[in-house]
Amino acid sequence: MKKFLVTGGAGFIGSNFVKYVLREDSAAMIVNLDALTYAGNLENIEDIMDDDRNVFVKGDIADRDLIEKLFGKYDFDYVVNFAAESHVDRSIEDPELFLRTNIMGTQCLLDVAKKFWQTGKDDQGYPVFRDGVKFLQVSTDEVYGALGKTGLFSEVTPLAPNSPYSASKAAADMIARSYNKTFKMPINITRCSNNYGPYQFPEKLIPLMFSNAKADKSLPVYGDGKQVRDWLYVDDHCSAIYLVLTKAESGEVYNIGGNNEMENIEIVGLILSNLGKSDSLIKYVQDRQGHDRRYAIDASKIKKDLGWEPSIMFAQGIKMTIKWYLDNAKWLDSITSGDYVKYYEKMYADK
Ligand code: NAD
Ligand code: TYD
Repeated sequence: MKKFLVTGGAGFIGSNFVKYVLREDSAAMIVNLDALTYAGNLENIEDIMDDDRNVFVKGDIADRDLIEKLFGKYDFDYVVNFAAESHVDRSIEDPELFLRTNIMGTQCLLDVAKKFWQTGKDDQGYPVFRDGVKFLQVSTDEVYGALGKTGLFSEVTPLAPNSPYSASKAAADMIARSYNKTFKMPINITRCSNNYGPYQFPEKLIPLMFSNAKADKSLPVYGDGKQVRDWLYVDDHCSAIYLVLTKAESGEVYNIGGNNEMENIEIVGLILSNLGKSDSLIKYVQDRQGHDRRYAIDASKIKKDLGWEPSIMFAQGIKMTIKWYLDNAKWLDSITSGDYVKYYEKMYADK
């Protein structure tokens, strides 16, 4: 039986990943550690709370005592680190929190995993680790910065992050890399493009536009709306992470992408037409500061090494996602009626 420490598993991708593993791997046992920030929501995982292969712990990845206690108790084989402050707009408002969670939190997890997984030293003084252990750092294509009209990010594209969010993720990648190079600790880093699907918090483009369109509120499109993102259905991201975790050579970095570049304004149009709403709801607002123009992923390495490809095309995935949000109106309402209202008023008041 493999024991997983999954962090951030009450957030969007983490909650989908925990369910993916419980579904796909009957021999898995998962401890889901999440601080339940504004983005963490126990309702995202309420359908698996009764599964005895799944334990939820509320706590902070930067709390070393807690992480040591959990390692002492569960003797994990895998760590999959999703926990992060994840929204670019919030990082422009409060960069420091991003550095603390995304950088210091990741370093804390790496250090405790190293301590518990090390079984001795080789004759050159390098640590030797228990067989079968692995740390997977979940990163983002945003660490590469922005592209012009052409080109793709590959795993050897130099890192050039532009927002405090992406800079903090790039720093975490570099620290994870250093634990692999300096200590030979078994580590992979995955860098994925924009995800969409069930349980995404409505501060991000797709659920925000859905939520506003449904309520006949204006849809705030930044700048000219022609920024390009490469959208991937969340379950495809989960399958890629699971494959890298269980099959990839230690030390490798993998890009994960959907081969699906779209302008923001196209996505907004699709949501409106799926809901039968008018384009007149679109409102062009002040652009995001330092707004990255285009992201696009070359995912040929993960296909070549591990045989992974996206399985859900955007036309199908967006329908599934819209249906999910329609069917789960209560989930969305309970978020949009809480503290999120204050956030929305603050962020969009002058736009
Ligand atoms: P999210 O904001 O929905 O979830 C983050 C989760 O982390 C929340 O449940 C939150 O409570 C938890 N968390 C925050 N700080 C914590 C701390 N100090 N200790 C423990 N838990 C903490 O984010 P998401 O969209 O699910 O993203 C998950 C990961 O995937 C992030 O690392 C993000 O950088 C990466 N990623 C996201 C995307 C995307 O499109 N959403 C794309 C590529 C990579
Ligand atoms: P977002 O979902 O925040 O993801 P990221 O910034 O990590 O790519 O934004 C996706 C795109 O949508 C990005 O180009 C910014 C744009 N956007 C808007 O135009 N309006 C909005 O209200 C939001 C939240 C995003």
